Amino acid sequence: MTTDVLPFEVSLPDGVIGAECRGADLSKPLDAGSFAELESVFNERSVLCIRGQDLTEVQCIDFARRFGVIKKIFLTDFAHPDHPEIMYVSNIKKDGRDIGHADAGSVWHSDMSYTEYPPRATMLYAVEVPTRDGVALGATNFASTAAAYDSLPQSTKERIDGLTVVHDVFGRRAKTGTHTQQDDNRRKQPIVRHPLVRVHPHTGRKCLYVSPGECTGIVGMDDAEALPLIDELAALIPQQQFRIKHEWQPGDVLIWDNCAVQHLATFDYRGPEERRLMWRITVGGETVGESDDGR
Ligand code: SIN
Repeated sequence: MTTDVLPFEVSLPDGVIGAECRGADLSKPLDAGSFAELESVFNERSVLCIRGQDLTEVQCIDFARRFGVIKKIFLTDFAHPDHPEIMYVSNIKKDGRDIGHADAGSVWHSDMSYTEYPPRATMLYAVEVPTRDGVALGATNFASTAAAYDSLPQSTKERIDGLTVVHDVFGRRAKTGTHTQQDDNRRKQPIVRHPLVRVHPHTGRKCLYVSPGECTGIVGMDDAEALPLIDELAALIPQQQFRIKHEWQPGDVLIWDNCAVQHLATFDYRGPEERRLMWRITVGGETVGESDDGR
């Protein structure tokens, strides 16, 4: 798609998700029409990358806020010292300690599904992208939960529509007592329940909302039946035909939809010389429930 009237171009790569925008300048507020165009592309394509930005923290936060309220960061050790809306995702160390979340996205998941009001979207701004022999490292993979749902046989859709899944920040580690320090840093989260099949608030598409990491059961179903079902459905999401891989460039602003996709990071870079630094902002909104208090 190329627009004549808007000051940027949007292209849609092959595949069921993903869009790339060039020519936008997010250092200035986008006018309402331009933002509406980008938001509509985002809703339809679930992952939107706006290339070539040079942003301050405030400009980044202001752009993220156009999509909804900024959510609080649980991992406060990794918060930007002056802008607590921003969490560092990074392998950089300072004084022997990680400045940011060094292994964010190590399994397929949807951000903060273990909270009562999971975020509508997550935004990463690529400040430093590691390279080796001129090739960018640390790509991020995305997979469509809507396409995965659509691919199910009708009998499975009928079986799972209306089921409610239990999400626990400690995941199944809670059952084995092996939760980590990082889990503890996320603070005490009550166990929450969400529909297994979520209806996307903007597109109306049905999306699978399960990940083995955080889903510990299905309401009214024995674990012996529920856990294999969760695993089986979750395994359908990252199939190749539902996936894209985002190769980062410094200055990328990338925003993804936490209902319509899951994501997985790639850890093919090594510190300290292959440095990766992303500013991450999570955005609330009309997801499973409504929250306008920034949770
Ligand atoms: C994340 O899962 O929040 C980060 C993904 C990435 O760094 O590629």
